[in-house]
Amino acid sequence: MHFAGSVVVPESVENPLKYYHNNTAKSRSLIEAVVKAGVPHMIFSSTAATYGEPEVSPVTEDCPQLPINPYGMSKLMTEYMLKDTAAAHPLNYCVLRYFNVAGADPLARSGQSTAGATHLIKVAVEAALGKRAQVGVFGSDFPTPDGTGVRDYIHVADLAAAHVLALETLIAQPDRSLTMNCGYGRGFSVLEVLNAVDRVTGGQIKRSIEPRRAGDPAALVSDNSLIKATLPWQPQFADIDTIVTHVLAWEQKLSEIRAVI
Ligand SMILES: NC(=O)c1ccc[n+]([C@@H]2O[C@H](COP(=O)([O-])OP(=O)(O)OC[C@H]3O[C@@H](n4cnc5c(N)ncnc54)[C@H](O)[C@@H]3O)[C@@H](O)[C@H]2O)c1
Repeated sequence: MHFAGSVVVPESVENPLKYYHNNTAKSRSLIEAVVKAGVPHMIFSSTAATYGEPEVSPVTEDCPQLPINPYGMSKLMTEYMLKDTAAAHPLNYCVLRYFNVAGADPLARSGQSTAGATHLIKVAVEAALGKRAQVGVFGSDFPTPDGTGVRDYIHVADLAAAHVLALETLIAQPDRSLTMNCGYGRGFSVLEVLNAVDRVTGGQIKRSIEPRRAGDPAALVSDNSLIKATLPWQPQFADIDTIVTHVLAWEQKLSEIRAVI
């Protein structure tokens, strides 16, 4: 399972070669090593960013992939490399196009600890806990109901379950490769997410309206019919308040861990 990568869209606009190096060239090296070692199956973390600004919402897997930032393009190129390599070598693969991953382990045993993470729910919960002064809302003039960007947030535990089921399918059907969206098929605006954080924490995060960030599309929401039809995948945590609750519990645990260290 190949999760590693550089993930910050605006950074990819400023420094595209970093993304083509770390996400594309290094994935090429990894795929070559996989082929040389005879690894039979591979799962790759791709992204909704490969769709760019989709003309339809929710977006299905066969929608045109026209990334609007180097991050999305660097991932799309890896999708192509996997497809061509699997056609030439004894390898099958599953591309999972994640939408916005969020949440934490429901028992707070693990969660996101990347320093300087830019993921909205983590950032908002950090603000609710006083670790940040405010949350930037990047763009309030998108063509969405409240003007802020709309995304499909998927709980990391449901995403992890999809990986296990995908691997079982690759093992059971070695002649078949898969490319599937991973999302819940429901979009939330930035303001709706911040309201959910306020609801769960009982506080009120300070919002700061900022200009749009380079490379950010207005809305990205998945059509998840394919993954539901292909895998016995039944999401357990498709509720924004549950996602926020788990992020909050993890963030509090992380503060305790860091206080000890
Ligand atoms: N979080 C999301 O919403 C989301 C959405 C779509 C796709 N993805 C993909 O999921 C994967 C994980 O993303 P994340 O959100 O957890 O980001 P993250 O930044 O928290 O994790 C990425 C990890 O990859 C590591 N890494 C980067 N380059 C590496 C290299 N060359 N060798 C070894 N390790 C390297 C980093 O140190 C980091 O730990 C990425 O491939 C990302 O593109 C994430």
